[in-house]
Parts: sequence; C-alpha cells; structure tokens
Amino acid sequence: MMHSAFAPGKLILMGEHAVVYGHPALAMAVERGMTVSLKDRKGPTALVNAQINDPRLAQALLTVLPEEGVGVTINSTLPTGRGMGSSAALAVALGRASLAREGLEADPAEINRRAFKVERVFHGTPSGIDHTVSMLGGALRYWRTESGPQFEAVDLPPLPIVVIDSGIAGNTAEMVAQVAAKQPAAHRDLAEMANLLDGTLPALKKGDWVAVGHAWLENHRLLQAVGVSTPLLDRLVRLAVDAGATGAKLAGAGGGGVVIALAPEPEAVIGQAEAAGFNAFVTGCYPSR
Ligand code: PMV
Repeated sequence: MMHSAFAPGKLILMGEHAVVYGHPALAMAVERGMTVSLKDRKGPTALVNAQINDPRLAQALLTVLPEEGVGVTINSTLPTGRGMGSSAALAVALGRASLAREGLEADPAEINRRAFKVERVFHGTPSGIDHTVSMLGGALRYWRTESGPQFEAVDLPPLPIVVIDSGIAGNTAEMVAQVAAKQPAAHRDLAEMANLLDGTLPALKKGDWVAVGHAWLENHRLLQAVGVSTPLLDRLVRLAVDAGATGAKLAGAGGGGVVIALAPEPEAVIGQAEAAGFNAFVTGCYPSR
C-alpha cells in the first residue's frame, strides 16, 4: 500500500528575519513543491529514492515514521536550500503522508505538529512561517506572539514574480544567528521592515507594481543593512531592475538562495538572468486549501 502527499514551497515576499523578532512577514505558497510517498516494506525505514540529498533527512524521517517498515520516496520540483521552503514542503507532505499511512484523518493541528517536528531538524528554531504557509496555501501575513503564532490570509492578485536562483545554498540557521549577533543594532532595521510591509499591503492588494517594486528594493536594502545579503544577490537585484523589473529583493534567509523580481514583463528578466548564467523562472501562488 502506498500513501502520497504533496505540499507547496513558499517565497517570503516581505519581512524575513523581522518575523523571528515578533514582527509580521508576508509569505506566499508557490506552485512548486515536494511529494512524499510512503510504502510498507521489510527492514528499517529508509529513503528508497530522493531528489534531494541532505544528511539530516534520515533523522527527519524518524521524527514521524516508525524505525522499521517504511520505504520513502521524495520527488521535488523546488530548488533545495534556496529559501523556497523545501524543508517545510517536505515536512508538511511527510506529515500528511504519515497520517494517511496510519489511517488517520488529515487533522490540521496534527499535520502542523508533525511538520514542525520535521522542520526543527533542519532549522533548529524556525519562526514557523514556512510550514504554516505550506500547509495552508495562498498568502499569509504571519507573526509570533508569546501565546503562539498568529496569521491572517491575505488576498493577493496574481503577482508577476520571476525567481532568479543564485545557485548558492544559504544556511538559514547561520543567517539567523548572524542577525541575532547584531542585536540590538539591527532592531531598528527589522522594525522598519515590518512597517514597510504593512505600508505596502494596500499596493500589493490593488496590484500597484511600481509601489510594490520600490518597497521590495527598500526591503532588500534593510536586509543588506542587517548583513544577510551578498554581492552576488545585490548583483541579481540590479540585473532584474536593469531588465525592467519594478523592484527585486532576496527572499528567505539570505547568504545565497534566490532573488525575487517583480516583473510585469518577465521574459526580459528571465532572458537577462539566463544570459548571465542563472536559472530563472516565473512562479504563481499555490491556492489556499
Ligand atoms: O527558510 P528560509 O531561508 O526561507 O528562511 C526563513 C525566514 C527567516 O525569517 C530568515 C527565518 C525564520 O525562521 O522565519
């Protein structure tokens, strides 16, 4: 008997790192994601086939699967280690598939609990934004409080987003630690990022791409100020703007990963990125469940 589940990846549209300190961030589930398939077999639980290669994977599987008797296949349409939520998508898909395998209902609270356990193997103390948006789909304004995570669905028109892959994997835990080491100096920049997000929501909702593009450039500048951008990511932001994007920013923890560009004419940005040797693609929002 085989049990499979899909979960989408995500992009952080605004407010990464600020969200670690209780500020809101805006994340959107994307059309790409992870499919986890579980099949009963003899012997220890193990990966049978995986399009991702991560030494923490075996440990992550055992947080929600028994030690014996399950063969796991993972298919991915997401670049991994690029801030596109590959570990969160894996965590949610694995949580869902493991419940189905046990003959249990897809109870959201239980999927959330299992997914968070898996995410912690990869990210230590994640804010939870990645797996929450992967679970729920759509776009979410998400923030943490002492009594737990809070979020609200945000209804966005289709955004003309081009993702440019820097080809470099970023290390989320390292980047989060780097920002922590800069406190309290970085505090003002992170608070400003949160204000920027809330100030930009009306423009996002009505599709004012010039205003949103400017806000993304400002968000990128604040991420530079807290030390998580790199010369390569800055170069990709400039490349996108020179090719006609209204704005661009790194998305996710930084140090590598992807840049997102707001490009009403995406072909020009994709063309320039590919000419410079980078993989680039359009991605839409994965609908809310
Ligand atoms: O997983 P990434 O690279 O998208 O980073 C998540 C965003 C951070 O705000 C940097 C960390 C977190 O846990 O929210």
